[in-house]
Amino acid sequence: MAAQIYSKKEVKVKVSPNLADYQETHASFNWQEASKDVEWFPNGGLNAAYNAVDRHIKTARKDKIALIWEGTNGEKKQFTFHDLYKLSNKFANLIKGKGAEKGDRVFIFLPRIPYLYASFLAILKNGSIAGLLFSAFQEQALLDRLADSGAKILITNTELSKRLENIRKDLPELKEILTVDTAEFEAELGKQSEEFTAIATDPADFAFMLYTSGTTGKPKGVVHQHYAIVAQHATARYVLDIHDEDIYWCTADPGWVTGIAYTILGNWSNGATSVIHEGRFDPDKWFQILADYKVNVWYTAPTAIRMLMGAGDDLPKKYDLSPLRHILSVGEPLNPEAIHWSIKVLGLPFHDTWWQTETGCISIANYPAMDIKIGSMGKPFPGIGAAIVDDLGKTIEDGKEGNIALKPGWPSMMKAIWQRQEKYDSYFVNGWYLSGDHGYRDTDGYFWFIGRSDDVIKTSGERIGPFEVESALIAHPAVIEAGVIGKPNELRGSIIKAFVVLEKDSLQKVKDPQEAQKLKDELSQFVKKHLAGHAYPREIEFIDKLPKTRSGKIMRRILKARELGQPIGDTSTLEEY
Ligand code: WTA
Repeated sequence: MAAQIYSKKEVKVKVSPNLADYQETHASFNWQEASKDVEWFPNGGLNAAYNAVDRHIKTARKDKIALIWEGTNGEKKQFTFHDLYKLSNKFANLIKGKGAEKGDRVFIFLPRIPYLYASFLAILKNGSIAGLLFSAFQEQALLDRLADSGAKILITNTELSKRLENIRKDLPELKEILTVDTAEFEAELGKQSEEFTAIATDPADFAFMLYTSGTTGKPKGVVHQHYAIVAQHATARYVLDIHDEDIYWCTADPGWVTGIAYTILGNWSNGATSVIHEGRFDPDKWFQILADYKVNVWYTAPTAIRMLMGAGDDLPKKYDLSPLRHILSVGEPLNPEAIHWSIKVLGLPFHDTWWQTETGCISIANYPAMDIKIGSMGKPFPGIGAAIVDDLGKTIEDGKEGNIALKPGWPSMMKAIWQRQEKYDSYFVNGWYLSGDHGYRDTDGYFWFIGRSDDVIKTSGERIGPFEVESALIAHPAVIEAGVIGKPNELRGSIIKAFVVLEKDSLQKVKDPQEAQKLKDELSQFVKKHLAGHAYPREIEFIDKLPKTRSGKIMRRILKARELGQPIGDTSTLEEY
């Protein structure tokens, strides 16, 4: 069936797009030129945080609002670029005084409060490496990440710091925990100078790291360099289409890559006034934010869009959403219904964008000036070569399914997997970076998403490795083994489903359906409490035995096929089952 096309020719443009013609820009774009759009130090140094904030202080943007913040309880604050400059300088002086040196890992474990953003900038200005921890993480997730990275300083608050009490003894490299909501901290920050000279880091110096999950093993630290700012700047300009007068709202949390690249770096380097909402998702509140702050550019995710759709078409009618000009989505497949809905209700189509923690910037996208094939992820960002290749890295013909692959060389390609060179190397095959996603390209050059080639789960747009959840389940005394899959779900994309093998006594007990339900609830809560609030299984099934390969690896693909009533496929490597 031919894709439906949303033609841009019929659209009355309010503001000329920064990228006026995709083909033309695609033909002429090069990163050398693009790198002139950020500011370099005379010695060839480049600092991403300096580019996000400090350089604006010398221009008319100095007193422009950089951050409009609304807290969970409706508190409101605004920061100009100058305010952010001063606050992040104080933070930089403070962490430097605590012993943070170039290359040291300084982690942030905070809700979306202004100090999160200021401390991130401070860490980069100081030449240290910022690590981000999503605020739903619990003990095990924290321990894995802080231990692997050897974090020296942790910036958190009183409530979240409680989750460290039991694990602190296992983190010998963690020298300081700063709790930002204490009088003591305020006093110390207050004493710091508002002046700090951002370190002229080398473009290849590490700037930030994020732990992310694959199929096997513990999460790994994906590390990005300062030079990535060149790509974040260019994509924010051409894909988010940020203009100087825009009010921009990206709903992502900085615990995930979108919240770093496009709520701190690319947006601010383009001088955008950016809205941050601390609170949780709420349809009423979200429409209210769009209306109250007159948001023009809005970057969000499919699960949130589906939840807004679920709240009914009358709700948005209560708000004046007419300032909206350009809306985008990322993180999971954007279903065509969501685009049809936005055209009907907001008068604008959502523009799908595809990328990953590892790619560091939007890599495939729909652009304001390019027709949308509804359901497609769009075309590669100019300057990024994308193709569909087989497992050996050979390109395959249009229309055929294969691995979505990118040609290395764009500035925000991950620079390392923290202390795991082999793992890093394993991403590259025959000169291509393999994303782990499957898709195809049509004859017009549009890319279409099919699914993951591995067992990574996306639930509500958040990336979760099955191994972490399985390990958390096994820590419960009733559990012998567990296999975890993503089960398709209309609202959340996928939900986590766990297949659990119980020890003898529990097995007896769960013959009583009430006891079975009780244990399922207990196991869900157990994962929530020990691993992460967002990574718990919403469905659990007790099972006698897990399908495994002869070498003992759990075959999640078989669990999934069974769950979906699909053929099981090649089982030649399967242990007797
Ligand atoms: C998935 C998020 C379909 C994909 C920025 C990818 C998508 C993973 C899309 C990366 C999209 C991201 N359509 N799937 N437009 N965008 N994904 O690292 O599976 O949290 O590999 O980065 O999300 O997730 P991550």
